[in-house]
Amino acid sequence: MNRAISIPLALQLVLVSCGRNISTWQPSGESPIIPIPAHSSQTGTSFSIGAPVRISVSGPGADLFLPSLNAWVEERSSQLGTPFLQSAAVAEANVTITIGDNAAGDDESYRLDSEDGRVRIDAGSPAGAFYGLQTLRQLFAVDDEGRVFLPSVHVADMPRFSYRGMHLDVGRHFFPVEFVKRYVDLLASYKMNRFHWHLTEDQGWRIQIDSYPKLTSVASCRAETIVERNFDPFVGDGEEYCGFYTKDEIREVVAYAAERFVTVIPEIEMPGHSLAALAAYPALSCTGGPFEVGTRWGVYEDIYCPSEETFAFLESVLDEVMDLFPGEYIHIGGDEAPKSTWEASELAQSVIRREGLADEHELQSYFIRRIETYLNSHGRKLIGWDEILEGGLAPDATVMSWRGTQGGIEAARRGHDVIMTPGSHMYFDHYQGKAENEPLAIGGFNPLENVYSFEPVPEELSSREATHVLGGQANVWTEYMLTADQVEYMAYPRALALSEVLWSPREARDWDSFVARLPRELEQLDRRGVNYRLPDVTGLERDQLTLEDFVVVELGVALSHAPIHYTLDGTDPDLTSPRYEGPFQISPGRGTVTVRARAFLTSGRATAPASATFRRVSPQVPHPILRSDLSTRLLRKYFEDDFHSVDELISSTPLSAGPAAPEHTPAKAHEHFGLTFDGYLHVPEEGIYEFTLASDDGSRLMIGSEIVVDHDGLHGMTERQGQIALQQGFHTFHLSYFQAAGGAGLSLRIQAPGWAVSRPIPSDWLFHLGGRALYF
Ligand code: ACM
Repeated sequence: MNRAISIPLALQLVLVSCGRNISTWQPSGESPIIPIPAHSSQTGTSFSIGAPVRISVSGPGADLFLPSLNAWVEERSSQLGTPFLQSAAVAEANVTITIGDNAAGDDESYRLDSEDGRVRIDAGSPAGAFYGLQTLRQLFAVDDEGRVFLPSVHVADMPRFSYRGMHLDVGRHFFPVEFVKRYVDLLASYKMNRFHWHLTEDQGWRIQIDSYPKLTSVASCRAETIVERNFDPFVGDGEEYCGFYTKDEIREVVAYAAERFVTVIPEIEMPGHSLAALAAYPALSCTGGPFEVGTRWGVYEDIYCPSEETFAFLESVLDEVMDLFPGEYIHIGGDEAPKSTWEASELAQSVIRREGLADEHELQSYFIRRIETYLNSHGRKLIGWDEILEGGLAPDATVMSWRGTQGGIEAARRGHDVIMTPGSHMYFDHYQGKAENEPLAIGGFNPLENVYSFEPVPEELSSREATHVLGGQANVWTEYMLTADQVEYMAYPRALALSEVLWSPREARDWDSFVARLPRELEQLDRRGVNYRLPDVTGLERDQLTLEDFVVVELGVALSHAPIHYTLDGTDPDLTSPRYEGPFQISPGRGTVTVRARAFLTSGRATAPASATFRRVSPQVPHPILRSDLSTRLLRKYFEDDFHSVDELISSTPLSAGPAAPEHTPAKAHEHFGLTFDGYLHVPEEGIYEFTLASDDGSRLMIGSEIVVDHDGLHGMTERQGQIALQQGFHTFHLSYFQAAGGAGLSLRIQAPGWAVSRPIPSDWLFHLGGRALYF
């Protein structure tokens, strides 16, 4: 699809929804549906559908479908202001839903035909009928007289992936059952079918377990919560924070989700992220405690000890969990489990000896295998985060790849099923606009277009291996989401982009088409009272350096018919500010110019201001070193200590040093360490160079005397960018990094002038001072 087709189509939609000229529906091959269907075409002009709208349902499993149909009918009647009725008799119905005899029960396909005042939905299963109804919802339009119109269309649709998920962390912040149901209802309306409910955390245990009552009386409450990012020194809010779901509430959510063909996947974290459980039952730890339920975010060292008592506890918990959740999958976490307490524990070491294990990573693998055997013996399957690959993967485990896609690739190659949830695209706790214009978030940058660009099947996989990629999921971690409104702000509209990634055929996905279809769906979200975020004006994502007198600024917005207005004096634009008509030139002269822009909807809502500063600079002069003095690669120094900032590396003594590339893959590293990389960067031509530095935890890049990217501090795998103007020649290079407990990783990419994308720094651009410098 191209822009030329999709924009005029959006125009038609707006006209239809305003009711000004219903007959402007034209046969054009595209429909206003998100996620875009596998096949759809308009077969004629739009027609008015008589009131009341009578719906008949028939076929096997129709009863499974009736509760969601009832809810749908009620919502349509109130939103469209016309009566919708469920009518048993096919003869008097103007919407006829027929469910086919799908023996396998996993056929989610449907066909929808609307013409001459009638709609016919033929579905492969009750789930398919449900998806047909979601499509029908998106086709209605109402004119000024309140008449309901539908386009004449033919839709033949089915999902690309069988696993289409959204996750919600209720451990860091707790959300009431009513909100959880609304969250499930919304994701189901975009044809997603898995809800991953992250129920246990260091900061709170949220599910009633009868055999261990202290999990609710003790572990569901923390004494207070860290205020914003006040880690060091710690500042808490002084307010007790509690919450858990009773078994009846869990059953209510599971049943509600089932009516919408959503399977709930509970997550019970082990062996890490278990501090709340240890506060209730300290005997499950290696040290005996005492412990308090976590009050700050991050990764805690204290985890379950691999004792028989722990396994008996977890098996009892899982018994009760399996009783509540009928789905095939149970998620057991497995991520971010520091091994220091196991290293120091006589009991853990005795299990390593008894089982003939090599180290603590194999001990974690032994732990997960035992739990997998238990789940399998009850007819269930285990899912874990990609750390379960370390030390050997449990035989039938499904892997959720979150630290990039590499874990997923490795698991698929070994014949394991995989769900793709990489932090780069699928973490909805990351910023979706510039941090200074956004509510506090954990970090990162994952705007709508980035979500939309995600491809769940990595190119590296063969077509046979690719069949193991069951689908993908977005994760909503709630450290910085204190309210339900904030969860919706972070989840929508990114969930709409996600739905298209997971449902639609790869070749049907088209960003311009999505942008053209988005405004109408945002109106639907408005009607449902969803606190979604308006997409930003694009083109101002980053401050930019320039060597030129003039810079061309090109703006855009993922909203049709929303004019952009901008200012050049730092003030907030309004409707009286200059209107953007196309790319324009600015002149930073010897200083800076700040462009600020917003798009304005006809409803009166406006996007958050987007801004970028353009700065004219002189390029840095190179170091006068000679090529003949240098050898390739960099000098890497390795440090071991409990670092909290890269500044602490300066006064530390390294344990070892040697030539290396500026990357670090976690593998089996020590839990606390630091690395520095020193040498020279060869710059092939004068220009502006952009560096993207991703790390877990902190890192910093210096070129010459300038800090180009400062990504210091305790944090998960997030990236940050910085630019520098450099003359041709050798420039000193210093990269420092430290790892505290939990996930680890470091990667640096460069974008040279004229490159469309960033890449790892070419190895023949990096040098150190030769053999002499390697010994000290
Ligand atoms: C994770 O984000 N720790 C799975």
